[in-house]
Amino acid sequence: MSRFKGKVAVVTGGGNGIGAATATRLATEGAAVVVADIDEAGARGVTGKIAAAGGRAAACHVDIRVPEQVEAMFELARREFGPAGILINTAGVGAQRYFLDTPLETLAAMYDVNVKGTFLCAQAGARGMIKLGGGRIVNFSSHSGLLGSSGRAAYAASKGGVIALTRVMAIDLAQHGITVNVIAPGPIAVPRQKHNEERREAWLKAVPLARYGTAEDVAGAALFLVSDDASYITGQTISVDGGFTAAGLRVKNPNDYDGVKR
Ligand SMILES: NC(=O)c1ccc[n+]([C@@H]2O[C@H](COP(=O)([O-])OP(=O)(O)OC[C@H]3O[C@@H](n4cnc5c(N)ncnc54)[C@H](O)[C@@H]3O)[C@@H](O)[C@H]2O)c1
Repeated sequence: MSRFKGKVAVVTGGGNGIGAATATRLATEGAAVVVADIDEAGARGVTGKIAAAGGRAAACHVDIRVPEQVEAMFELARREFGPAGILINTAGVGAQRYFLDTPLETLAAMYDVNVKGTFLCAQAGARGMIKLGGGRIVNFSSHSGLLGSSGRAAYAASKGGVIALTRVMAIDLAQHGITVNVIAPGPIAVPRQKHNEERREAWLKAVPLARYGTAEDVAGAALFLVSDDASYITGQTISVDGGFTAAGLRVKNPNDYDGVKR
């Protein structure tokens, strides 16, 4: 498939997990991809595999909290492949702590990467896309940005912020032909995630599709949102969560009901 032939994409957080799967899939489908990450070794590992499979990719060390490094990331894209018309902001950090035990530093750390980092990358990316006459941006929130999961105060506040930020970006950038959407993943099995047995069981019960998602499940949704097929979709939050945020009360037999049956 060559849906993205001739396109240049920047994927932040591309060195691991969802970002790595997204960058790899974009390259497989013809895009030239800048794999950007604070984990430079991770980014190089991904570009190595892309190159070995015949794709085009360049690794970039970036801390998305630092404006100069974000500028340099887009400059590298321009130098290597041309201006980027696609930006996928998967880079993010998480925290898990009971609300009353959550230090202010944790809230600040979540905001720094998830909100400020996403803001900086999207702002710099959009400035380049305006010169191209349009573009596509996908940000990353979480089910935690939509629902109150225990121990997620700092993380959830930042991921809710990403959803609010995405809506405003979508509205402000619409006049330039740039679409901006946000993906809210549910539990996705990635190498860095370590869920204990209790949490695993709770997830498998709570997710209607009764499995963890894969990084490829999320990459597929991200690629759709940056493809021509999604040209009339902007400002939306797309949950990729096996039905977790759609679910209400769930029973095995919905016909087995002791109230009024019609
Ligand atoms: N895996 C899940 O279950 C899940 C669920 C909901 C939301 N998400 C979100 O999806 C996105 C990807 O998550 P993942 O599971 O692939 O995690 P991951 O930890 O495997 O990947 C995140 C990447 O972001 C990079 N990163 C972190 N801080 C950075 C910084 N300051 N500058 C540049 N890069 C930085 C990391 O080095 C890493 O490569 C994140 O935004 C995460 O919050 C993941």
